[in-house]
Amino acid sequence: MSFTTVRLGEQGVELLDQRLLPHEERYIVLKTAEEVARAIEEMVVRGAPAIGIAAAMGMAIELARASDAKLAETLTQVGARLRATRPTAVNLSWALERMEGELRSLLAAGAEPDAVREAARTLAQRLHDEDVASCRAIGDVGAPLVPERSIVLTHCNAGGLATAGYGTALGVIRSAAREGRVRDVLVSETRPFLQGSRLTAWELSRDRIPVTLITDSMAGSLMRLGQVDLVVVGADRIAANGDVANKIGTYALAVLAQAHGLPFYVAAPLSTIDFETACGDEIPIEQRAPEEVLHFAGQSIAPEGVKALHPAFDVTPAELVSAVVTERGLVRPPYGPGLARLRNR
Ligand code: MRU
Repeated sequence: MSFTTVRLGEQGVELLDQRLLPHEERYIVLKTAEEVARAIEEMVVRGAPAIGIAAAMGMAIELARASDAKLAETLTQVGARLRATRPTAVNLSWALERMEGELRSLLAAGAEPDAVREAARTLAQRLHDEDVASCRAIGDVGAPLVPERSIVLTHCNAGGLATAGYGTALGVIRSAAREGRVRDVLVSETRPFLQGSRLTAWELSRDRIPVTLITDSMAGSLMRLGQVDLVVVGADRIAANGDVANKIGTYALAVLAQAHGLPFYVAAPLSTIDFETACGDEIPIEQRAPEEVLHFAGQSIAPEGVKALHPAFDVTPAELVSAVVTERGLVRPPYGPGLARLRNR
């Protein structure tokens, strides 16, 4: 992979500005947690694992700025602000909880302020490195699910741009492609933010993996014509029973895959599994601004005054999911016991 999604530099949190892709590769440096929070809200950085890591790094840079007396207070305030940025991806609160847990223990044990600041940087970097390792392991676990000469359909961007590197769904695709088993990757454009056309097509073409762009509405017909072999997507949150929240449009693809007898795989690290949430109905779904639906590339595409809906995610019931691919192995139905076993492994 020839780009860096998120990095903890000397000057601050460095992000590849994903709003500008595929036309421009520009890195920006954020110096406060508030700047990181806005970057997450405005989709400079997006994708469940990537926003968790950016938030952890945002916390580290804010602790570096805070006075000795304000470390504990900063931890609480910054954690609350970063958590509120996007509600659906559980990786965000997962990463912040890991930071807060470790740093609070250090403060309670009377650690020197500078030792706490240093520990925050080290842990944020560790979360980054662990995510890359998880994605590579997901690739290894998932690649054998891709038969020879497959046409794989993916939705949104669950790639290196959505993680610390390599990707989840795109991790599976990258590993299968390296083994020569991918004939083509169909990428649905993913209205309205176009993560498929702008980001996934960019990533795959840079890696010289064959890619063909489709509009979201083409998937069913292509499946009926026998031009799709399997579907692989990422996830923002997987409930304890295996229900999956992911980018809006994922549920429709799962229904279509089942109707056409095609496997539908979800690739995600354990940090995406929310054992506290029993089922998909309990997952909070982010509602984004209607303007993102009513406009395209800065142009209005609907009559003045027309309303629009914009749920950014949907929930795919576990019964439509053929398998969940994690860094610790593959889980098949029934997901409740299968996911719980992974957690304890
Ligand atoms: O709104 P986004 O772009 O953050 O949505 C991203 C997705 O839905 C991804 O599929 C998901 O976060 C998995 S990323 C490995």
